[in-house]
Amino acid sequence: MISVKKKIIVANWKMNPVNIAAAKKLFTGIKEIARNLSKVQTIIAPPAPYLSELTKLYKGHRILFSGQDIFWEEKGSFTGEISGTMLKDLGAACVIIGHSERRARGESNEDIHKKIQAVLQTGLTAILCIGESDRDHKDGTHLAFLTSQLESALGGISKGKLSKVVIAYEPIWAIGKSKDDAMKPEELHETVLFIKKVVTNSFGKSAAFKVPILYGGSVEKDNAGTLLTEGMVDGLLVGHASLSVREFGDILRSAQEVS
Ligand code: PGA
Repeated sequence: MISVKKKIIVANWKMNPVNIAAAKKLFTGIKEIARNLSKVQTIIAPPAPYLSELTKLYKGHRILFSGQDIFWEEKGSFTGEISGTMLKDLGAACVIIGHSERRARGESNEDIHKKIQAVLQTGLTAILCIGESDRDHKDGTHLAFLTSQLESALGGISKGKLSKVVIAYEPIWAIGKSKDDAMKPEELHETVLFIKKVVTNSFGKSAAFKVPILYGGSVEKDNAGTLLTEGMVDGLLVGHASLSVREFGDILRSAQEVS
């Protein structure tokens, strides 16, 4: 189980860097910083083909490895797909599920639900991504949208299994830009409370309040600390800024400082 006592900082490398040599260099740089940070749970989500080489470079608990997606079947004629067991065998402890870039390429709420079930069945932790594409404060449609994403992804999951779920709130309008385009911390705090309320409605307060909630979307070194403290999140999911040792290292250090 991933503890909410530490700040959880996930590096979502997406389809980067370009080759294994570059991936090893990036990982080694991050490792030197992350291994000394006792209050931060660093999670690295590289492209799956890099996992087996990268896991050889680190043994310990300060850094965990994550997949970026899985397929829900265990094996069979599913060209190009990867199962949870395959990722686990390569050393992954977590899997990102339902990232907006996958949803944009056709992944449905139903697919995401099946993937979450498969992740939990395998004993891995699911990092479930949710987030609206735009916001209209007047009619609150984004809240109904988040509710339906949460309810369809987590419906039918047992309370016990909820301890292996992390929610990453990533408003799509804030992804892949720069620090000034990230969500404002006070707005983030409101949304975090809303997410907790929706999860509480299905699972009860004590289980729901143990689910770590992360924020993702243009997190950089200059806004990481404020998003964590004023946004009241348990961690961050970092895209482009996780591809630079210096930038990501500063984000990890900010997380250590505010913990
Ligand atoms: P970003 O990406 O940090 O580059 O905005 C976040 C994500 O897509 O997970």
